[in-house]
Amino acid sequence: MLELNDIHNYLEKHMSQERYMHSINVANIACSFAKHYGIDEGRAKLAGLIHDCAKEEKYDNLVYYARNCGFSIDQESFEIPQVLHGPASAYIARRVLGVEDEEILLSIRYHVTGRENMTFMEKIIYVADYIEPSRKFQGIEKVRTTAYENIDKALLIALDQTIMYIIERKGLLHHDTVNARNYLIKNS
Ligand SMILES: [Fe+2]
Ligand SMILES: [Fe+2]
Repeated sequence: MLELNDIHNYLEKHMSQERYMHSINVANIACSFAKHYGIDEGRAKLAGLIHDCAKEEKYDNLVYYARNCGFSIDQESFEIPQVLHGPASAYIARRVLGVEDEEILLSIRYHVTGRENMTFMEKIIYVADYIEPSRKFQGIEKVRTTAYENIDKALLIALDQTIMYIIERKGLLHHDTVNARNYLIKNS
């Protein structure tokens, strides 16, 4: 894996200053969740830092990266371009940044849509991405306060709000997001 310094250099070169700051914010929140819940802080922080590493790549690159990310990818994802940077970022993390930790790679792969039966790392990256300090929207405080009490509850609120947001805008809803939500309801 690249040195942390080189990872920062890569990110600064491949994204806007705003998105770089977003990445650092997500890394810090993920780290604080890890500390709170007693899991490895360094791995959570790294996952947060690089979760959006391919977000500013052009569509053709996103398609190639997503197809070759090392995880399955369904046809539906290619019809919803905004979800492609999840698997594409997993590709860059694996192939360019040299990350071999499959749990970190999975949390990047699914950070946009979520999925059924998410790992703890996937949950904290999804929620950290949703509530990081520069985000401002209605309903965010409910997720912020719940996140340190019960990560599943926070995730469910975040998924519900995301689904409603997509529906309000008449957007396409990826089935992984619906499955992530239904799984939490069935298993809570
Ligand atoms: Fe993202
Ligand atoms: Fe993000």
